[in-house]
Amino acid sequence: MLNIALPKGRLGDKVYSLFAKMGYDCSEFLEDTRKLVIENPDSGVRYLLIKPSDVGIYVERGAADIGVVGKDVLLETDPDVYELLDLNLGKCNLAVAAKNGYVEDTDRTLRVATKYVNVTKNYYKGLNREIEIIKLNGSIELAPILGLSDVILDIVETGTTLRENDLSVFEYVAPSSARLIANKSNYQFKSEEIDRIVARMKEELL
Ligand code: PRP
Repeated sequence: MLNIALPKGRLGDKVYSLFAKMGYDCSEFLEDTRKLVIENPDSGVRYLLIKPSDVGIYVERGAADIGVVGKDVLLETDPDVYELLDLNLGKCNLAVAAKNGYVEDTDRTLRVATKYVNVTKNYYKGLNREIEIIKLNGSIELAPILGLSDVILDIVETGTTLRENDLSVFEYVAPSSARLIANKSNYQFKSEEIDRIVARMKEELL
């Protein structure tokens, strides 16, 4: 069995469709179920439905052989895995955003609200800028609106959330898209099958 970690949600649905087209279908995936492990012995595949931020750790520790996760999450969690392929799905940008018309006061410590604590630390370290991180878990855009932070560092996909909350991108940090990753030692054992998947995926994504 090949164990594949999929991020639960929109990206996971797209990635499952891709695997299904390649012959790794699993009819249970399309059922309205709360199951977290679904498998199809005929196609030799077991899907693990995982919170996106945890996909890297499941693959790093070998609970999953391969997985799909956003580059934003890889930059944040930095798992020790092989990054095999850019799927060009789930494209977005990590960016710093602030209220429209925001002007930075460089004499003050910058208050940054984010769930990307490590990305934020690294980004501002590179700029030599002193910051205070306010760790949030969602609806990050609220922070500058309510004066909880000066800026946010978050992903921007369509830009709708920023626009509808009178915020705009202040600086781009890094582009992101879905990546196929593999456990380093499991890859040695299953390299033939995993390489076949990579080749088939490249064809499907052309
Ligand atoms: C993400 C992100 C932004 C939004 C960006 O939030 O944190 O809020 O999507 O997308 P957009 O540019 O297309 O509007 P998500 O929906 O994952 O929910 P969250 O606020 O709970 O993190």
